[in-house]
Amino acid sequence: MIENLISRTLKGKKSDIPIWFLRQAGRHIPEYFEIRKKEPDFIKFCLNENLIIKSTSLPLKYYNLDAAIIFSDILMIPWAMDREVKFTKNFGPSLNPMIPNETKILKNVCIDSKLRPLKKSIYYLRKNLPKKIGLIGFAGAPWTLACYMIEGTGSKDFINTRKSLWSSYRWFMELIDTLIIYIADKLELQAKAGADVLMLFDSWSHMIPNNFFNDCAIKPTARIIDILRSRNIHAPIIGFPFKAGASIVKYSFESNVDCIALDWSVDLHWAIMNINKNVAIQGNLDPVSLIPPNSDYLTENVLSILDTMRDKRFIFNVGHGLTPDCKIDNVKEVISIVKNYNRKI
Ligand code: CP3
Repeated sequence: MIENLISRTLKGKKSDIPIWFLRQAGRHIPEYFEIRKKEPDFIKFCLNENLIIKSTSLPLKYYNLDAAIIFSDILMIPWAMDREVKFTKNFGPSLNPMIPNETKILKNVCIDSKLRPLKKSIYYLRKNLPKKIGLIGFAGAPWTLACYMIEGTGSKDFINTRKSLWSSYRWFMELIDTLIIYIADKLELQAKAGADVLMLFDSWSHMIPNNFFNDCAIKPTARIIDILRSRNIHAPIIGFPFKAGASIVKYSFESNVDCIALDWSVDLHWAIMNINKNVAIQGNLDPVSLIPPNSDYLTENVLSILDTMRDKRFIFNVGHGLTPDCKIDNVKEVISIVKNYNRKI
């Protein structure tokens, strides 16, 4: 049986360096907007089997990638919890903000039935994509979901979220504990339907006050992984504590992730020295380096990442999502550098 490179790398088997990109599906490929036009409501888009399949597969038409990320959004969990979630063009998501101590934290949400189209698309994709393409399922981490649910939008400093944590710790933790269950349910659903690898996005982990990092990022991640393993889900887990700085060291030892995705601010030499050696690394090219055409530094930087990571369990990726203005030719160039490098080592 052909096993995809990402699964091989994550299971510690000898493998070429795999490559895929965060946010490879939407936004920077013009054809995405043709698909997107078919359903203007983004939530409905994420619940349309045919459109999920088309968007997930789209980057594979353009690029020689080793994985596809299943098209969905982290905010499908708040939506399933009956929170109002809207996406506005050029603004991003907005939710009806939660008020600390508000009693309506919905229990007993059946994620499986709410996200049935996601499950069906994964069945289809795993059956129809080549076996050498790894299929990656994902969810937002509890802190990041709580940020959107309390703040109501993205924010520079998430003051309301942090204020709720300081003022209503028990309520906040009840929200985190509830999210843990739904996140585990969503990841389980994806793995059972055929996702080979699971990723947890903690996009706002750098907003966690340091004294709460354990309670809000590390312990919840460990708990989610515990629940999955107890449900017999053994797909490798990639954790992405975005811009969490030195806290990623403790995260790498205690969260039980199989792989840590590094953002573009992390020095790879420092990471190799300091983080848990049993954890694989994914990252961490600056996605902005893919915007200028013919940058002098792109090739040099990609090669430097590869030279640093060549003997490690490593997945090549960007250190945050591709932006809408990144150039298809630059993405192709990076893939070809990685593939050629693999031939030489
Ligand atoms: O390649 C992919 O894009 C895979 C699918 C995917 C989406 N969202 C689709 C999407 C993934 C993995 C996500 C995760 C996600 N969503 C994160 C974590 C990753 C990160 O970037 O930090 C976060 C924080 C969100 C929340 C979210 N969804 C925001 C802030 C926005 C608006 C701004 C933006 O980035 O475009 C969205 C909307 C969204 N999710 C779009 C897509 C393709 C654009 C909406 C559109 O097509 O109209």
